[in-house]
This record gives sequence, structure tokens and C-alpha cells, in this order.
Amino acid sequence: MNAPRVSHHLLLCATATKAKCCDPEIGAASWDALKKGVKLLGLEAPERQSGIVLRTKADCLRICEKGPILLIWPDGCWYGGVTPERIHRILQDHVIEGSPIEEWLIQRSRMDCNHRNAS
Ligand code: FES
Repeated sequence: MNAPRVSHHLLLCATATKAKCCDPEIGAASWDALKKGVKLLGLEAPERQSGIVLRTKADCLRICEKGPILLIWPDGCWYGGVTPERIHRILQDHVIEGSPIEEWLIQRSRMDCNHRNAS
């Protein structure tokens, strides 16, 4: 079986074991909204032209404040203060339309795929 093409990977720190970055209730509701939103918008469909969207619940993304924290790869965009309402707009504007919501970003980082070849 061939691995599916992936357009984005969304990692959400929402219900961390030590619950340091957010209210666990808001985190759990945001995770639920993310799972439902990805499914409802057809982002997991194998026939999606631009690739499927993966979502993973992370147990701490090393920010640990002003969460829930959502990291979107390969864009390297970190959203803070995620809520169920914000999840829907992030999926629509950022993931589908390719326009990150600048006012909700707390930082950006670059994915470095070349470091393993350096010697
Ligand atoms: S506990 Fe959420 S980023 Fe660390």
C-alpha cells in the first residue's frame, strides 16, 4: 500500500498530561472541533487532490502558555489561544485557502529537511 500524499499535519496541544498551557475543557473542546472539522470538510478524503490532512493530539509542544497551541506543518505556523470557533476559521482560511491568520499566530518556524545531509 502506498503512503498517502499529505498536505498538512496539524498538531494540537489541548489536553496535556500536566495541562500547563490551557484550560483542559477548552482544550478538549478544541480537539473535538478539530477532529470534526477535518472530517466534515473532507480533508481526510484519500481522493483529495492536494493531499490529506493529518491531525494529532500532542502532549506538550514546549510553549506551555496561552494555549491551546496548534502547530501546522509544513508551514511552521504556531497558533495560540485556539478555541473551537477559531478551529473552523483556521481550517478554512489557512488549510484550505492557504492564508494563515496572522493576528492569531504566536510564532513561525522553518522545517529544515537538509540537516541530515550536512556533515
Ligand atoms: S502543555 Fe501545551 S505546549 Fe506545553
